[in-house]
Amino acid sequence: MIAAARAGAAEILRYCNRDFAIHNKEGINNLVTEADFAAEKAILGIIKEKFPAHQILAEESGEMIQDSTYKWIIDPIDGTVNFAHGIPLNCVSIGIENKGEIILAAVFNPHLNEFFMAEKGKGATLNSRPIHVSEEKKAIHACLVTGFPYIYINEPNGPLEMFERFVRKGVPVRRLGSAAIDLCWVAAGKLDGFFEHKLEPWDSAAGSLIVQEAGGKITDFKGENFSIYQHKVLATNGHIHDEMLGIINGQKDLQ
Ligand code: IPD
Ligand code: CA
Ligand code: CA
Repeated sequence: MIAAARAGAAEILRYCNRDFAIHNKEGINNLVTEADFAAEKAILGIIKEKFPAHQILAEESGEMIQDSTYKWIIDPIDGTVNFAHGIPLNCVSIGIENKGEIILAAVFNPHLNEFFMAEKGKGATLNSRPIHVSEEKKAIHACLVTGFPYIYINEPNGPLEMFERFVRKGVPVRRLGSAAIDLCWVAAGKLDGFFEHKLEPWDSAAGSLIVQEAGGKITDFKGENFSIYQHKVLATNGHIHDEMLGIINGQKDLQ
């Protein structure tokens, strides 16, 4: 897994210093670059050589279904818009699922040389040092992060309504542009909570384990057990989780 993450990251660094082709996916600003394909190819090359029987779910090439309980879930570049604009907040994100549960995770941002890892039941690390979520106890004092989908979700209590609720009370809410980094920075205690309406399995697979192994909590917007196969994500340091659930659902005031 480490070798695969490093191989993907090497492609990110190789492309970020030169011209690359950019294409559009669904939605006018949902980009995919030559570097996304190159990073995914490098990652898949290593996995297929070492674990040819394992299943794969990769953002750019889709699913490879095989008769194995193991599934590698890969985002070759999480934060592609940042990457395309030369913003050094993007990473390789790889999670391994076994029998429906994420057991191993790696998120590597080569620009900042931040390599996050977690193993189920064994804690989370940043560059091999253990990490832990923050101790913040009140949402009003928290530093939060969120993300917005490429195609806006026009629904009651949508992304802007939630964002507005915090911003109106003066609570800092970052928008970094990489859900995997958002989750890892909650895990590392830099940020206290993260919410987003529409993530895909490759955005959350690795980060969801990293934040839990760092002592944090992750659920959907109803507070139910998190699954990477549903879209809505609330991840916090645990202390502010229930309060955040009340606020994001509009049932509780920030005070
Ligand atoms: C995106 C990033 C972004 C989030 C989007 C994702 P991509 O992934 O994680 O932070 O807001 O929902 O799609 O497209 O850069 O791999
Ligand atoms: Ca992504
Ligand atoms: Ca991506």
